[in-house]
Amino acid sequence: MTPHHVTIVEVGPRDGLQNEASPVSTGDKIALVDRLSAAGLPVIEVSSFVSPKWVPQMADAEQVFAGIVRRPGTRYSALVPNPKGLDRALAAGATEIAVFAAATETFSRRNINQSIDESLANYRDVCARAREAGLRTRGYLSTVFGCPYEGAVDPGEAADIAARLIDAGVFEVAISDTIGVAHPGQVPRVLDAMLARLAVDTIALHFHDTRGTALANVLAALPFGIATFDASCGGLGGCPYAPGAAGNLATDDLVYMLNGMDIETGVSLERLSEASAFIAARLDHPLASKYAQAAAAVRR
Ligand code: HMG
Ligand code: MG
Repeated sequence: MTPHHVTIVEVGPRDGLQNEASPVSTGDKIALVDRLSAAGLPVIEVSSFVSPKWVPQMADAEQVFAGIVRRPGTRYSALVPNPKGLDRALAAGATEIAVFAAATETFSRRNINQSIDESLANYRDVCARAREAGLRTRGYLSTVFGCPYEGAVDPGEAADIAARLIDAGVFEVAISDTIGVAHPGQVPRVLDAMLARLAVDTIALHFHDTRGTALANVLAALPFGIATFDASCGGLGGCPYAPGAAGNLATDDLVYMLNGMDIETGVSLERLSEASAFIAARLDHPLASKYAQAAAAVRR
């Protein structure tokens, strides 16, 4: 069941940089995306077309899309919360979009100011309009492994919402551990519930590494046949509406582990390390990625 090939969705430029306190210039964001393209990442979430009042760090999404050099075959995605975001994504030339729902009402309200039902109705329209324009839509489902406001989440109820997202028109659901509480004891329980409702090739996993369990969670998920994982270069990341959320699973650490397991990703670890070192020099803190730290120590 363990896949021979894994697709990595690089979310550093969006999930990572949306949460950095020190501002990163538009030029540096563009240079980061170009370095990630050169490293062979198959999908790069470039930015998000959300309200700049809610997430000012992503206000330059248009300029970032306009500045990047597109590598043939790479998918350049963006987060979209509503029809206005879709219009912006289409004008900017995103090659696919992603909508984002939550497994808990309080997080949904805090993150997008809508109930779960309202968001799913809104996303049904966004997916239909995106499809008409020739774009596929990915879906995120936040707080599946735990909610910062409501605590424990029932896997069966989360799976019902994931199935409703597919029904609304997304091609895959990124089952997300927004606050990094998941562990390898929980991952099989959640996947059992998801696989009872969804096809395996419509499930991706999105882990944050707040408690150091993200890589172990991937290892727990691989035997289920899950073959798409989100990660951010250097372990950048968090979520502005999830207090205490830390960086995503680090792409560097993930590629190193998968290389060791002979699972292909198409990503050059050397070039990825260059991308991580580039962005590290522009932040006010060291990168969380263990691999990036080791690579930096060797370079010194
Ligand atoms: P709202 O305030 O309820 O909506 O926000 P509104 O329609 O009343 O709009 C308010 C203002 O924003 C208006 O401007 C709109 O025009 C503008 P004003 O009239 O006041 O000048 N606006 C927009 N501007 C640009 N682009 C748009 C847009 N939409 C409205 N698309 C809304 C509702 C959904 C817009 C807001 O709540 C929002 O933008 N939320 C996004 C929050 C966010 O980005 N969170 C982080 C990403 S999710 C995440 O990180 C989790 C994930 O990684 C998975 C995981 O780990 O769990 C994906
Ligand atoms: Mg996230």
